[in-house]
Amino acid sequence: MQPAARLYRPHIQALGARYDAALDACGFDAVLIGAGALIPVHRDDQDYPYRPEPLFLQWAALQAHPGSALLYRPGRKPLLLVYEPEDFWHQAAPVPKGPWHKALDIRVMRRRDEIGRHLPARGRGRLRVALLGDPVQWRGLSLSGTVNPRPLLTHLDYDRAFKTPWEIACMQVATAMGLAGHRAVRQAFAAGCSEFEMGLMFLAATGQTDQELPYPAIVAVNRNGATLHYQHRDRHRLPNKDRHSLLLDAGCNCAGYASDITRTYAARRGEFAGMVRDMDKAQQRLCQLVRPGVAFPELQLAAHAEIAGLLARWDLVRMTPEQMVSQRVTDFFLPHGLGHLLGLQVHDVGGGLASHRGGELARPKRFPRLRLTRPLAPGMVVTIEPGLYFIDSLLARLRKSRAGRRVNWRKVASLHRYGGIRIEDNVLVTADGHRNLTRELEIGRAGRPL
Ligand code: GLY
Ligand code: MN
Ligand code: MN
Repeated sequence: MQPAARLYRPHIQALGARYDAALDACGFDAVLIGAGALIPVHRDDQDYPYRPEPLFLQWAALQAHPGSALLYRPGRKPLLLVYEPEDFWHQAAPVPKGPWHKALDIRVMRRRDEIGRHLPARGRGRLRVALLGDPVQWRGLSLSGTVNPRPLLTHLDYDRAFKTPWEIACMQVATAMGLAGHRAVRQAFAAGCSEFEMGLMFLAATGQTDQELPYPAIVAVNRNGATLHYQHRDRHRLPNKDRHSLLLDAGCNCAGYASDITRTYAARRGEFAGMVRDMDKAQQRLCQLVRPGVAFPELQLAAHAEIAGLLARWDLVRMTPEQMVSQRVTDFFLPHGLGHLLGLQVHDVGGGLASHRGGELARPKRFPRLRLTRPLAPGMVVTIEPGLYFIDSLLARLRKSRAGRRVNWRKVASLHRYGGIRIEDNVLVTADGHRNLTRELEIGRAGRPL
């Protein structure tokens, strides 16, 4: 499964045009983007897992090449410097086959300090160079340039929200891979596997290592679903009667681009299964609201209205949905944002930028954790991930609040063991609305992927 190679050259052209404008606006003639460096563990001879620099990946999908870099100068073919040291302890990863071989000028470096040869010599150079990425990579190299100039990063972060067709195609492949993993884990849950086993099955079905995933998969059985970013893997297989629910939040990585997918499953028919179905419908209604010009905080409010409707319908809270939203009762059940920008990072940068020049669009007081305040625009990919959880610390506060006596605590107690529900899709904003990248691959559709 690969994104269509023909989309890559136009991507590089579009990226070049963005960098031309950004460099011009910020007073630079060239940019060197580091792939990142290996960080050694304290008093050990091993390194922490390597995470490549997203700005580097946007040009070249080399995900296992620390020490490499990309040099871009307007009007010139981008230069990809691949670091392959002579090292008989480790094996250099091959440069993956792909369309970059034609669109980039690729050279191999055997030594770190060869990077300097490709930049203007110190003192004599008139070029103003920006050095982007983790500065650890430049240590001891005496490169002349400005390290991570904030205005340039801001300019690039702002543009990064708008995906090129290549980027969207990568995210579609990441989605298809993630969905294959979800299918495998769903079957494994039905077969009685432990969280640990399901985590391994996700990797096997997607063909990715833990390190390659865009974020650690959340494999949460029963109460563990109430921890939003649950990070453990219980090794025990639970007997059938003790298995109630599974919340799986897991995505994949294709050429550096992420998918971020959540599904919640009930172990058997009954009230919780009905709640999951209702939540799925509510989530689909929220996805339908995605279109250009919409302010994400409005969608956040719409999500709270949906959650209020569910709390009323399931007789969890005995107030009108309007009261539940205005008195902030829903905040106890949905304590996170409805979604975020998605792309090179799972929580992609720039969600609050007012313009290329920066300025943060204020988060609404009501939703201080909202990661996305920019108005939606074509090319953005956002997640839509409403949830409803039974979180002990929040329930304790709700019990003490004025609305506490309007809560049907017996019902809460009966649902407590299920942990929570989250349903998450990845949605592309188009010129006239949206495309749900997750659902169109999950259920198939007449149209073909890009
Ligand atoms: N997987 C993290 C999130 O959904 O934001
Ligand atoms: Mn997620
Ligand atoms: Mn997400």
